[in-house]
Amino acid sequence: MLDERGLIEEARSLDGGYYQLKIAAPRIAAAAKPGNFVMVRVSPSLDPLLRRPFGILESRPPHIWLYYQVLGRGTRLLSALGHGDSLDILGPLGNSFAEMPGKRVLLIAGGRGIVPLFHYAQAYAGRQPLFMLYGGRGRADLPLLDRIKALPLRGLFIFSEDGSIGQKGLLTDGLEKIVRTERPDITLSCGPEAMLARLARMLKPEKTENHASLEALMGCGFGVCHGCAVQTVAGSYRKVCDEGPVFPLEEIRWPT
Ligand SMILES: Cc1cc2nc3c(=O)[nH]c(=O)nc-3n(C[C@H](O)[C@H](O)[C@H](O)COP(=O)(O)OP(=O)(O)OC[C@H]3O[C@@H](n4cnc5c(N)ncnc54)[C@H](O)[C@@H]3O)c2cc1C
Ligand code: FES
Repeated sequence: MLDERGLIEEARSLDGGYYQLKIAAPRIAAAAKPGNFVMVRVSPSLDPLLRRPFGILESRPPHIWLYYQVLGRGTRLLSALGHGDSLDILGPLGNSFAEMPGKRVLLIAGGRGIVPLFHYAQAYAGRQPLFMLYGGRGRADLPLLDRIKALPLRGLFIFSEDGSIGQKGLLTDGLEKIVRTERPDITLSCGPEAMLARLARMLKPEKTENHASLEALMGCGFGVCHGCAVQTVAGSYRKVCDEGPVFPLEEIRWPT
């Protein structure tokens, strides 16, 4: 874990309340793997006290890119920063999505859950057959679509709840058919808890190996506060920050 002062070189406002930051953080960029995250101090003062966790969209030393949605005070403060501002960043944190040479991998991303999967696709698309199922509430919820279309994916399947882009419906509506036709060996997913819970139920009878990246409210980000614990089906607890954020999908006790 590194504590680095990152310099914002580009801050872009995208559709749907999303923002993208290009940050010079050479040491974190050199170490980051798809699935890792960072803890960012969103203000130069100690208010708010807690850093906020964000996935790493892209890492090309000396830069990392973050992609985030404004939700509350912390992300609002972050969205006010721009070119030339600096950020106190801890990272890279957590485990990562392993590269699966030769395996057919289906990436399943809901909304801002695209972050670690975009990183994975960028890092490994040339080396293994990748398919992506990507969905959101509407067109504005998928502002990275043009960049995703430029990735060398074997297949891209888009769903929107309001039908403004791609097929109308939840992305899970397309899952069964894609699993039948593209025959993935592995699924990697990230998105809202309800989506992951549904995926866990739907993929249970399939032969695929399934891994998901989870979100949780985080205090420290490195294993000390226990604020991020999630329950497993075996009844024990796992910390999302340092034992995750990537877990086997079937290991987690999802809400019914
Ligand atoms: C490992 C990890 C990676 C993440 N990666 C990204 C990312 O790449 N892009 C991105 O936009 N967001 C990401 N998040 C979520 C992000 O950390 C929160 O949106 C952010 O901390 C909200 O801060 P805030 O001060 O703006 O909102 P707050 O004022 O703290 O909260 C606003 C609302 O959002 C809810 N909320 C806050 N954090 C979370 C969370 N982690 N999960 C669910 N609900 C939450 C709160 O309960 C509250 O209702 C990630 C979270 C984790 C744990
Ligand atoms: S966030 Fe503190 S232990 Fe995970």
